[in-house]
Formats: sequence, C-alpha cells, structure tokens
Amino acid sequence: MAKLVAGVGCSHVPAIGVAMDTHITDQPYWAPMFAGFEKSKQWIKEVNPDVVFLVYNDHCTAFDASCIPTFALGCAAEFQPADEGWGPRPVPVVKNHQKMASHIAQSLILDEFDITIMNEMEVDHGLTVPLSLMYGEVEAWPALVIPLAVNVVQYPAPTGNRCYNLGKAVRRAIESFDEDLKVVIFGTGGMSHQLQYKRAGLINPEWDKAFLDRLTSDPVGLAQMPHVDYLREAGSEGVEMVMWHVMRGALDDEVTEIHRHYHVPASNTAVGHIILENKAA
Ligand code: DHB
Ligand code: FE
Repeated sequence: MAKLVAGVGCSHVPAIGVAMDTHITDQPYWAPMFAGFEKSKQWIKEVNPDVVFLVYNDHCTAFDASCIPTFALGCAAEFQPADEGWGPRPVPVVKNHQKMASHIAQSLILDEFDITIMNEMEVDHGLTVPLSLMYGEVEAWPALVIPLAVNVVQYPAPTGNRCYNLGKAVRRAIESFDEDLKVVIFGTGGMSHQLQYKRAGLINPEWDKAFLDRLTSDPVGLAQMPHVDYLREAGSEGVEMVMWHVMRGALDDEVTEIHRHYHVPASNTAVGHIILENKAA
C-alpha cells in the first residue's frame, strides 16, 4: 500500500522562481533565503518520494471569476507551467500519477469531500515555486505530482478546520491505494503578506513563528483560527496559510519537526518553511 511519510510547508513567492530561472540566487538579497533550503534539498533527495501530493492555490491562472472551485484535484496526465505574464517558467512539465489521482478523487468524494476533477489544468507559481525550492534546478521533476488547488483568492475560502479534515481524508485516500509508493504532502503559500492597498507590505514575524510552533504542537487548535485572524494578523494574502492545514491534517497527531526556516523578505512576503515527519516513518 502507499504510505504517507512526511509533510512540507513552503511559501511560493513568484520572484523566487524568477531568481532561480535567471541564476541570481547567490546575490546578497537572495542567498540567505535559499540557504534555508539546502538541508531540505538533501532531505528530499534522501527520502526520494515517488509521489508528491501538492496542495497549492491558483492565482487566476487556471481559474478566473467564471468558475471558482473550492478544492480542485489535478487528474490530467500532466500539467504545463502557465504563462503568468512573463512567459511560462523554464521548468519541467509536471507529471501526474494518474491512476493514484483517480483513486484519490474516488476516495475523497465517497468520503464526502466533493472535490472538482480537473482533466486539464495549467499550474502557476503556487505549484512550481515550492517544487523548485525543494528540488532545485532539474531536467525532470524527480517525483510524480498530484496537485490539489484550493480557492483562497475569492471569499469564501474554506476554513482551516475544513482543510485540516480534508487532510485526514487525503491520508485515507493515499493509504488505501494498492501500490507500494512513498508519498510526501506539501502545504504551500503564505506566510504573512499583503499585496494591496493601505497595508501592502505587511509582515508579522511573531504571528508567523507562532503559527509554525502550533503547526507542530497544536494542529487541532490552530485549525480553529477564523479567517479574520489571518486577515488582520497576516495580511490579506496570509489566508493562503489555510492550505498548510491540509498538509498537517494528513500527518500523524504527533510529528517530528525535521527542519524549519523563516526569512524576511522575499518580494512582499515572509518565507516560511517546515518539514514534519510522521514518527513511524
Ligand atoms: C507575492 C506573493 C504571493 O503569494 C503571490 O501569489 C504573488 C506575489 C509577492 O510577495 O510578490
Ligand atoms: Fe500567492
């Protein structure tokens, strides 16, 4: 059977992708941010998951106001990097484990999480930047990737608690798949940032660090946080953090924190990163 061994939390700032694609990662602005991912690249090389289940948000790339699925599961054979205004990122095409994705769609829906099935989808920085941070520059992504897009752009976004419980259903779906595959789940987006209007540029390191602490030690309590707290404390785009609850919900109650990195700034955003392993793993 497939086994979920670990979770990765990771921000997804587009400028990080640009820094990698234009080879300026050793510039003083960027070097400390990338340094925090050296251990992570080593870790994922050692763990070498067959499949990454990647929870992210689309930024009006695959979806727009005409159609707003709360949870959309990528079931296509592959996902091309999208053109977000500067041409598609020069990163490999993202390949799915289509059989496992279909199984997960069936399992989730019969488990009463009525996700949208995406048989065609392009993926934006929300998905490609976390992959780049964890795998570096590669010819082909070393793992197959099953994307789950979460709406955090148009209110109402799902609650943290809904995301946490979805994570539990994702775990059941993965671990009922009848192939010996090693799976790592990513929860992406955040941390504190606001891209617009009077509070643009808002960063709240105390709140971010407390979030990381509680993600490890008090995930159930943390998942109860209402949207307005994200908005007030972590800025309008801080609500991207609800996606980390899907990742945390999929893990054991007790986890081992393997690695943590926090860096300000990257563009307008506080970069947060954490690796959590299931104890049995
Ligand atoms: C930035 C951050 C985001 O999460 C995003 O989707 C776009 C831009 C930024 O900090 O520039
Ligand atoms: Fe974003």
